[in-house]
Amino acid sequence: MTNPLRLGVAGLGVVGTGLIRLLQRRHAEWAARAGRDIAVAAYSARRRGDRGLDLGGALYYASPAELAASGSIDIFVELIGGAEGIAFDAVKAALSRGISVVTANKAMLAAHGFELATLAERSGAQLCFEAAVGGGIPVIKTLRESLAGNAIQRVSGIFNGTCNYILSRMETERLPFDVCLREAQALGYAEADPAFDIGGFDTAHKLAIVASLAFGAKVDTGAVSVEGIEQITLADLSAADELGFRIKLLGVAERTPHGVEQRVHPTMVARSAPLAQTMGVLNAVSIDGDAIGELTLVGPGAGGDATASAVAGDIVDIARGIRLAPFGRPAASLVDADRVPMQRHEGGYYVRLAVVDRPGAMGAIAARMGERLISLEAIMQKRAGKEAAAAGVVPVVLMTHGTTESSIREALALTVEDGVVRERPQVIRIEREAL
Ligand SMILES: NC(=O)c1ccc[n+]([C@@H]2O[C@H](COP(=O)([O-])OP(=O)(O)OC[C@H]3O[C@@H](n4cnc5c(N)ncnc54)[C@H](OP(=O)(O)O)[C@@H]3O)[C@@H](O)[C@H]2O)c1
Repeated sequence: MTNPLRLGVAGLGVVGTGLIRLLQRRHAEWAARAGRDIAVAAYSARRRGDRGLDLGGALYYASPAELAASGSIDIFVELIGGAEGIAFDAVKAALSRGISVVTANKAMLAAHGFELATLAERSGAQLCFEAAVGGGIPVIKTLRESLAGNAIQRVSGIFNGTCNYILSRMETERLPFDVCLREAQALGYAEADPAFDIGGFDTAHKLAIVASLAFGAKVDTGAVSVEGIEQITLADLSAADELGFRIKLLGVAERTPHGVEQRVHPTMVARSAPLAQTMGVLNAVSIDGDAIGELTLVGPGAGGDATASAVAGDIVDIARGIRLAPFGRPAASLVDADRVPMQRHEGGYYVRLAVVDRPGAMGAIAARMGERLISLEAIMQKRAGKEAAAAGVVPVVLMTHGTTESSIREALALTVEDGVVRERPQVIRIEREAL
């Protein structure tokens, strides 16, 4: 009889305990699918103890790196987190000894994905990370395996449940950003320091990983332009609604004439699009391939069970003997990621302005747009609230047809210089399909 496949699980937090509970509940199915028994042989966490789990005779290691190098495991499952330090050292220790690794650690893959893939290839180990992007949604497998026959044009998605929760609550409950952020924190969705989520950086990590799989480039977060959702107001959400859009924090990786663009920013998405209909903490990823057309996957982007489901799928794949290059092609063939400046981005724009309430102001704005060959698709003048009226300004919303980022930024800077616009104009990019 085949010996059981021995797991070494480092990290018994939300995902680690979720994984062990899932293994206990579905032990027989895992074994049937893998063709052999699967057991936790060893574990590591800061604190020793079973956390109410049945860890059987699993050995405890205070050091994850020692667990990885112990020789008593077949797969090292890294569920600690963090780009550097403990997790990274332990994963390198496992891979360099030919021990396969399953990880949910997007921060580590975003920082060291290429190096780790190279190490895995050299030692013949597998490096699997389905849980690192989109939690339980099988986006990595879909790009790496199922869509391997396609030329991918674009991947766009809602990769951060906290931001999607905040924007959904703001829109449906008409609550300001700060209130929704505090709610997300109270519910345990947002980190105590939420800057990483709301600033768009978590989305950027996941996008860089996805872009590598989709476009054959090395993972490079430096190639991602990032803007967060901190500046989105209820006025923007209302205007979006009137224009037939929703505002979502999207990560978009897309082939353009200037190279593969990677960008994270609040985006106007047509209400009819699947991404716009993804509300609350859910994540969604739309993939545009030449043969498949557009495909959207929607599901839970976090949580113990959902993330453990993705980790489990990787473990069973390795147990079955499936061998794949971590990023879908040999590491040596991965090219440097393009770094396309945001100024070159082309698309439609939503602009909200505080226009000085005097004759000729709108004409001056239209003239500046015209000079940069920007054509307007819609203009909405909103009723001035008390504050705006007291400040002598009128809120105006513009929607442009396709133009470049540099053109719209230059035109808006000139309207401020001309003295016809007060405050910093709010600019939100519009999703291409919606134009
Ligand atoms: N939570 C999610 O929904 C989710 C979703 C997708 C991906 N992920 C990723 O999954 C990974 C784990 O996340 P999590 O939410 O499960 O984290 P977590 O709840 O904070 O758990 C982290 C675990 O790592 C252990 N640990 C920390 N430092 C250690 C050290 N020096 N030596 C040994 N063990 C150490 C902790 O030990 P103690 O228990 O003793 O403190 C804890 O068990 C991260 O990479 C995260 O980005 C999480």
